Amino acid sequence: MNILFVVSELAPYSKTGGLADVAAALPKALAATGLTVRTVTPRYGFMTAGDYVGELRVPFGFQVQTAYVFREVRQGVETFFIDAPAYFHRGRKLYGEPDDAARFAFFSRAAIELARWFAAPPDVIHGHDWMAGLIPVYLRTVLRGDPFFARTATITTIHNLAFHGYFDLNDLTYFGLPTDLRSGPDGLEFDGVGSMLKGAILASDALTTVSERYAQEIQMPEYGFRMDGLLRMRRHDLVGILNGVDYNEWNPATDPHLAAHYTPADLSGKQICKADLLKRFGMPVELDRPAIVIVSRLSDQKGLDLVRAVAWRILHAGAYFLLLGTGDPRYEVFFQHLRDTAPRRIAVYFGLNEPLAHQMEAGGDIFLMPSAYEPCGLNQIYSLKYGTVPIVRATGGLDDTIQDFDRVTGTGNGLKFRAYNANRFMEKIYEGLLLYRQPDVWRVLQRNGMQADFSWARSAWKYRAVYERVCLG
Ligand code: ADP
Ligand code: GLC
Repeated sequence: MNILFVVSELAPYSKTGGLADVAAALPKALAATGLTVRTVTPRYGFMTAGDYVGELRVPFGFQVQTAYVFREVRQGVETFFIDAPAYFHRGRKLYGEPDDAARFAFFSRAAIELARWFAAPPDVIHGHDWMAGLIPVYLRTVLRGDPFFARTATITTIHNLAFHGYFDLNDLTYFGLPTDLRSGPDGLEFDGVGSMLKGAILASDALTTVSERYAQEIQMPEYGFRMDGLLRMRRHDLVGILNGVDYNEWNPATDPHLAAHYTPADLSGKQICKADLLKRFGMPVELDRPAIVIVSRLSDQKGLDLVRAVAWRILHAGAYFLLLGTGDPRYEVFFQHLRDTAPRRIAVYFGLNEPLAHQMEAGGDIFLMPSAYEPCGLNQIYSLKYGTVPIVRATGGLDDTIQDFDRVTGTGNGLKFRAYNANRFMEKIYEGLLLYRQPDVWRVLQRNGMQADFSWARSAWKYRAVYERVCLG
């Protein structure tokens, strides 16, 4: 079987979040199951990836537009980068432009045309989120009679239901799509505008999302972003498959970003990492003081209003608090203010910083992730591997990956609370700080996490099973 994997960000080249990590790791794991996998991604203006291989003609915007294709082969995966300066050269930005809809409609259309370069048509085109959402729509409509794609099935993975890829329905013809998609049961209309994600949900042969729990949650009004009805309708074609992590990138025994390495058997290097982290932020090094860390996009999704509500209590409880993140200015202003009141105990870094993300995971004692919703979440899984105890809210992938610690039986790999409530959250933080004071118990908790295996192999086989199913269907 050969798979075309279409994704709008790819680590280490372009990244706004976990999607880029998944895009880098999953194709490798799929290739290891014996599939032929080709990845397609934009070549944003700041990238230099790949070798030039040719021009691609893309019917789009009432004409045939040209894109330039670059190629790279790494670890069994052939990656194609689509360079279209008019759409993808926007400084450091990946998304958030007024013409995002046209940019990623073009990307989706270009990925389809690229598929024609290969001798055999793809058995499956596997797109991710709204940015590839129109692919199944094109194949179901204007390309329906195209013999090349007659046997090609489509899958969309939903990484985050909050983002739709809204567009003006008048642009359907500009995108090369029929105007009857405006309305009706197969229509792309959502709240009076077009939604690419809705198109993907309706037109894909199968849908997956990134944890079993989230697959259930999005069928309920509370987490469904008003798509729950549609998703219930498609529930027989919707599968939750937990993300894995790439332990070649995230392993404290080998991580090149760290001041020292460590393993579950010998955690002494973690103290060196903690000292190194505190020094980087110019803070006094008091190794007995617990370090609470956060690495996160600063958005409401991540439960930062709960963090804001408990921040002073964390400070009074005597812990260090370190935050790496970027996003909503409201949060940046608050955390900067907090830092300014207690610079010896609180540190913040606003921006994207990959090495620092690794150093925070290694140097922290406790990792906070009280998300309002979390399709999967990767940082709590990285935290487990780094012996940094995650305190999470029981939602989505956080619920699937973290088990609340039971000190009687010594089972569990983190601390977990349920209600979206600052007091419940703070109770868990207090519990964490108490456990931290009992080194023998703490070691058990750390090791439970460090020894867990969340590598991609198992999940890759589950994706393979979905591919097989849609190809037979
Ligand atoms: P999401 O994709 O919703 O942001 P995930 O937990 O799946 O959440 O993935 C987040 C990824 O982005 C992780 O690899 C994390 O280390 C990384 N990350 C988030 N914020 C930053 C930052 N400020 N600097 C570097 N990496 C970051
Ligand atoms: C999204 C989700 C996150 C998930 C990531 C990768 O960004 O917010 O929970 O881990 O996608 O699937």
